[in-house]
Amino acid sequence: MTQNLLEVTGLVKRFGGLVAVKDISLSVAPGEILGLIGPNGSGKSTVMKCIMGIVRPNAGSVRIGGVEVAGWPTHRIARQGVGIVFQHSHPLPRQTVLEHIEIALLPDSLLKLAADRHVAERARAIAARVGLDKVMHRLPRTLPFADLRRLELAKAIARNPEVVLVDEPFAGLTSGEVADFSALIASFRAEGHAVLLVDHNVKSVAALVDRVFAMYLGERIAAGSAAQVMSDPKVRQVYLGGGIEVAARPAKAAEGAAPLLSVDKLSVSYGKAQALEDVSLHVAPSEFVSVVGLNGAGKTTLFNAICQLVPSTGTVRFGGAALGGRTAAQVARGGLVQCPESRELFGDMSVRENLDLGGQHLSPAECARQLDWLFELFPILRERQGQAARTLSGGEQQMLAIARALMMQPKLLILDEPTLGLAPVILEQLSKALERLRLTTDITVLLGEQNVTFALPHADRVYVLEHARIVWEGSPARFAAEAGAAYL
Ligand SMILES: Nc1ncnc2c1ncn2[C@@H]1O[C@H](COP(=O)(O)OP(=O)(O)OP(=O)(O)O)[C@@H](O)[C@H]1O
Ligand SMILES: [Mg+2]
Repeated sequence: MTQNLLEVTGLVKRFGGLVAVKDISLSVAPGEILGLIGPNGSGKSTVMKCIMGIVRPNAGSVRIGGVEVAGWPTHRIARQGVGIVFQHSHPLPRQTVLEHIEIALLPDSLLKLAADRHVAERARAIAARVGLDKVMHRLPRTLPFADLRRLELAKAIARNPEVVLVDEPFAGLTSGEVADFSALIASFRAEGHAVLLVDHNVKSVAALVDRVFAMYLGERIAAGSAAQVMSDPKVRQVYLGGGIEVAARPAKAAEGAAPLLSVDKLSVSYGKAQALEDVSLHVAPSEFVSVVGLNGAGKTTLFNAICQLVPSTGTVRFGGAALGGRTAAQVARGGLVQCPESRELFGDMSVRENLDLGGQHLSPAECARQLDWLFELFPILRERQGQAARTLSGGEQQMLAIARALMMQPKLLILDEPTLGLAPVILEQLSKALERLRLTTDITVLLGEQNVTFALPHADRVYVLEHARIVWEGSPARFAAEAGAAYL
């Protein structure tokens, strides 16, 4: 029998009263990919952090190639051959892409430095392998989202760890990008590494992994082949949920009404790069409009320009008034509220404090009512009112960002990639919540998504944004036939 490269037994991690990981045992052999799935907050990232020594397990054993490392500091565990690709990228601000890879290539001992004269060459090769060759000399903050994820993978490849922990590599990526990333992860396997993979893209995980391990509330609920685990009743119930269904919508008397938002010939450039070019669109009161576009198409720039967060040319009118010259804060107070892709939570403040900030303009009674409603929508936030936002799981943070935007009782809510990092079952909840919003309030929604299975069912109308321009507009029913090829 081959020895497992990674062997975890009886792992326990508590945060105060919360047991985030309960008696978890799993192993990964060389040349094997184990998929770790489970709803948001089930403890997946915490398992990885325990293995990597980023958090110290309360009990249990972690063996890397037979060596017990539980309780070791991270740098020693890294030296033992473990590498992690984080759920969130935190690149260095002043180092270029290439420099990031070079740093990852540097040996951890000065004595070995002499042997590594070809660092720059190797860094270039790795950049090319992950598809970063064209942006090698750029700073991370100028990169689109998918490239930042590529950079994280490039760093992992550079360090060449025996055991690779990959946390949500597919989040926010298009199907083409997911295919590229899957191939890269499969190459780790082909080289005999042991890979532990977490992601909510169930299809892609199932296609890639050798086995699946499912968690819920810190515990193991199923393990086996992808097909076995995905058909397990408990996994279906707590993780996969049903499909996204939307009731036939009542005809809104929107036709002919003056638009709530109208955008005319909006252009934005970042230095020489044109991020948005002559974009015109409108949203009628109570309408639900989706802007569909791949990564880097310009969705976030469009929303930021509408909200006066980045300078632009052209006009934006909201409720008939031109927004040019207003501050982003004035725009938000006027009822045009964005839930940004980057979430922008106050990490050291509690869940409740973040929500209260959103509701600060409401009367105490209104605020309480709104909170109650949001807690019904996202029950986990009620339980976690006192927890620092920074320590929430990825999906929990997304829920908080959406809830905080809703606390402001927006007239027009802009949601930028709200599905990022959410488990299928939570997507279904979010979908129901949006449905309820449109049936019970007269909120207007502008949704930016590349996940068309989420964006289309809710939309009254769809725009497709490609390379900084609107290239198609129409009803969701016509989307598949006329514009869908790249997205479906
Ligand atoms: N430092 C901390 N203090 C308190 N609670 C924490 C801390 N870190 C994590 N938690 C909680 O532990 C639980 C497990 O979190 P974890 O990040 O492991 O979830 P996850 O399975 O990765 O979820 P997601 O899919 O949303 O990323 C969550 O409910 C989270 O809020
Ligand atoms: Mg996580």
